[in-house]
Parts: sequence; C-alpha cells; structure tokens
Amino acid sequence: MPTARRITLSTWPTPLEPAPRLSAALGLRPDDLWVKRDDLSGLAGGGNKIRKLEYTCAAAVDAGAEVLVTSGAPQSNHARLTAAAAARLGLSAVLVLEGDPPSSERGNLLLDRLLGAEVTWAGEVDAAGLAAAVTAQVEQLRGSGRRVYEVPFGGSSPLAAHGYLDAADELRQQAPGLAHLVVALGSGGTMAGLVAGLGAERVLGVHTGAVEQPTETVQELLAGMGAGAGASLRIRQDQVGAGYGTLTDAVHHALRLAARTEGLVLEPTYTGRALAGLVAAVADGDIAPGSQVVFLHSGGLPGLFGHPELARLAEGS
Ligand SMILES: Cc1ncc(COP(=O)(O)O)c(C=O)c1O
Repeated sequence: MPTARRITLSTWPTPLEPAPRLSAALGLRPDDLWVKRDDLSGLAGGGNKIRKLEYTCAAAVDAGAEVLVTSGAPQSNHARLTAAAAARLGLSAVLVLEGDPPSSERGNLLLDRLLGAEVTWAGEVDAAGLAAAVTAQVEQLRGSGRRVYEVPFGGSSPLAAHGYLDAADELRQQAPGLAHLVVALGSGGTMAGLVAGLGAERVLGVHTGAVEQPTETVQELLAGMGAGAGASLRIRQDQVGAGYGTLTDAVHHALRLAARTEGLVLEPTYTGRALAGLVAAVADGDIAPGSQVVFLHSGGLPGLFGHPELARLAEGS
C-alpha cells in the first residue's frame, strides 16, 4: 500500500491494558481480554477519529485549505475532533449536522462551539440530503473566495483509513497473539484500516446503524486502499436495535459491566454497542475462552453527556 503523508495530532502508541475482571464477567479467562485505549489519544477528549484526521488534515494542508467542512449526527465525535484538528492547525471548521438546533447544547455540541467551529443544521434529512447540504455549504464558501477541504462523513475514506493501519502496526507489537479485535463499525474507516493491517479473520466489526450497508461500506473502503477487497468480513448486525444511537438493553448492560468491573466508561452509540457485540459473540461461541481478544475503546465520552437517555444510563443493578 502506498504510504501517505500524516500530520501528528496526538501521542502514539496508545496503551493496551488488561481487563481481567471484565474478561471473567464475559465468560472468558481473566487474561484473555485487553483494551486498546484509543480513547486516550490526546486531542480534545480523544477517540478513533484522530488517527483518520492525521491523514485527511495532511491532505487538506497540502491542498492549501483554510476551512475544513464536514458532516455528522448532532453528537458526532468526528465533527468535534475535526473542529479540534482545525483549531490545532490554524484552520476554520464548518460542521453540517443532521437535524434542527436543539434547545440546549450538550456533549459534543458544546465542545464544537468551544473549539470555535461554525455549526449549521441540515434539518431532518437522510444521507443524500446531508450530502447535498454539505455540497451547498462548500459551494457557498468557495463562492465567497474561501479555500475549502471537505472531510468525508464520519471521517472515513481510503486515505483516512491509513490511520488504522498505524493502529494495526501498534497492535502487532503490543499483542502478537491477537486472535480477535472487536471494534464499533460506524462509517467504516476504522474497521477497514484494521482489516487491511491485520487481516479480515481477526477483526470483528459491530454495526452501529450509522450506515445502511455496513459490509459494502467497508468493502468499498478496502478496495479504495487496494487491500483485502473481497475478503470475508466478520460483521455483527444484531446490536442496532431500534436504530443508530438508541439505548438497547444489551448496550445498557454492557455499559454497566465495563464501568463496574474495570472503571471503564463507554457510551451507548459506539463503544457500548461494540461491547454488547462482544458479549453476544462469546455467548454464541464466535469468540471462545483461551484466545487473546482486544476490545478497541474508540472514545466518544462527550457523546455520553449528549445522549437523550443520559439520566437512565447509570440505573439498574
Ligand atoms: C466513538 C466512536 N467509535 C467508533 C466509531 C466508528 O468509527 P468509523 O466511523 O471509522 O467506523 C465512531 C464513529 O463516529 C465513534 O465516534
């Protein structure tokens, strides 16, 4: 794969930590489960999007951009980290978000403003409607003479996925015996980079409902990277429940389990779903005791504080 230019936006490698109490609670052996702490990557609250932005931002800077434009859900972690990367690089950020302005700003949205991003609302739109709103915004900015770089939805492109080739390199050093790597699948770039770096058989993606066709989405990214296209991907689609961002019982259980066994805080939209997927994979035998499992903590804590069911999250025994 050709190497691409990267701008460093955090301190690497992120740690790999043992999680013996969570491992035992899942029905694995205490030394089976490890957590790759990409939530500890150091820009503006951290998370997986930083690795992808290191490549996208390098391309934006090389293209002479002044403004980064991107899109997402109202509580998009990617939008928050694009705003942070823009601030770090002396650029402006315009975030085109789905929906209408909320009555109070919480979580990522609050940080978007603090980081100096301009937020525009696309209304209740589908993926095509959101893309059209981004195009209109980009044309308007270009019409007023600004040099714009469009960062794709969720930050995922074949170029951006190189960030997770870097993570795969770290994991090869940190976990040479890795058998299963469990990761939330949103816009797909994180899983695509990991599959390109580690092989499809070791990566289990847990679909979050962020895109309509998760398998095709990851396959297209792989094809764009010139890697692993046609490989048989391991993707669980059983954790979406009533839709993207909704709090299912399995996710609620997973959040409490991680918090109460390891002091590890997940959130309902991505990492909580990924852990619910791991619980289901152990229950149905896809992942068996006695093999090394790494759970990717991909960040997203601000999203917890923006979740509509925040008050319910800590309830239950
Ligand atoms: C915290 C978190 N984890 C995982 C993902 C999924 O990453 P990707 O969009 O690369 O599939 C996202 C995407 O928004 C995220 O915010």
